[in-house]
Amino acid sequence: MLSREESELLTRAGPGTAAGDYFRRFWLPALLATEVPAPDCPPVRLRILGEDLVAFRDTEGRVGMVDEYCPHRRASLFWGRNEECGLRCVYHGWKFEVSGACVDMPNEPPEYGLDNKVRIVAYPTREYGGIIWAYLGPAERLPELPKLEWARVPESHRYISKRRQETNYLQAIEGGIDSSHSNFLHASVDAFRVTPDYVEKVKNSSNLRARYHLLDRVPRFTVKKTDYGLVIAVRRNAGEDTYYWRLTQFLLPSHTIIPYQKGLSIHGHCWVPRDDETCWVWTMSWNPEAPLSAEEWKTIREGTFVHADVDPVSFRPYRNKDNDYQIDRAEQRNHSMTGIHGFAAQDQAIQESMGPIVDRTRERLGTSDTAIIAMRRLLLQQMRALRDDQEPFAAHHGAIYWVRSASLLLKRDVPFDEGARDLVAAQV
Ligand code: FES
Ligand SMILES: [Fe+2]
Repeated sequence: MLSREESELLTRAGPGTAAGDYFRRFWLPALLATEVPAPDCPPVRLRILGEDLVAFRDTEGRVGMVDEYCPHRRASLFWGRNEECGLRCVYHGWKFEVSGACVDMPNEPPEYGLDNKVRIVAYPTREYGGIIWAYLGPAERLPELPKLEWARVPESHRYISKRRQETNYLQAIEGGIDSSHSNFLHASVDAFRVTPDYVEKVKNSSNLRARYHLLDRVPRFTVKKTDYGLVIAVRRNAGEDTYYWRLTQFLLPSHTIIPYQKGLSIHGHCWVPRDDETCWVWTMSWNPEAPLSAEEWKTIREGTFVHADVDPVSFRPYRNKDNDYQIDRAEQRNHSMTGIHGFAAQDQAIQESMGPIVDRTRERLGTSDTAIIAMRRLLLQQMRALRDDQEPFAAHHGAIYWVRSASLLLKRDVPFDEGARDLVAAQV
């Protein structure tokens, strides 16, 4: 449970708020690079941290990100012409460079000199890992890009998608680090009921997750604070003298890495406030060793797992609350717990069902919410520290993001962090 004041502090992300200032200290995923694919391509709209922006790739290939509204009389630059190293407002022709400088004002006399004085709000961008990142903070605090693994593998080894969710970002992070929901929300009815057929199917399966989730549905949580955020260790009984551990990271301000099983691709998320009541859900799948396989591409295309099918302009999923996420009640009766197709839509449906900003003063948290409690505490502490002029360490140390999630079987007397270190040493 959070107090109303804490909840307000964590969830409001517009300019001048505590969470808003905090997010404005980091590079944030803003656009898929494919949204601005080539020099002088059409501009795109973007809402992020409560601000309406327009992005464009200029003639030189640089990506500009500027206030959507022209400083002259506030027309939208989304309708602008992207031409010869600048975006021109089509109302009266004022033209802006990626830096925000107004370089042409064809309806004003040159001797008036206005074009030297007028600027539009413009934010720095970087193209990195298939994404255009934006920095909306103070110029003198420019952070480092996070050295996340998915951003550094070859393009053929990864797939990135984004979708718009109609909840506050915090609710979405909470869903992402809540390891206990997958046994229910994403389960089949057979898995939930532990039917003999299901037991037969998974008891010797190479899918360790399914096997050990079956044996122990009450995971134990340990959370450790690190310099990048948190490592969340979830323990299940495996054999007589072993535990099955799943290690996931929460990386500031809002990245996660889902536990990795060798041989399969890794998945991660990043959640970025769009405004207080909506967020961008970024989902990354990558294979550190090889290009994504035909099987992996099939799963992505069919939207059965972590990526959703979205409208290519609004990035709103086709399964959304207006059509009840296309729920199939017969499917729910007979096969899956939700009757909703795909993990992404299942997460979105349940998180949106809580309202755009869940009332955290009315929750009853349990031990399975340990990671959520730790994450909120960490973000609150970070946001309050920034208000006291303590800059976030992670924003300026991109190398600390060079970590990987894990799932491992360890003897019961081996602490998970030691076991994980041994695993890394064995792989090097
Ligand atoms: S409103 Fe943009 S040039 Fe006038
Ligand atoms: Fe989920």
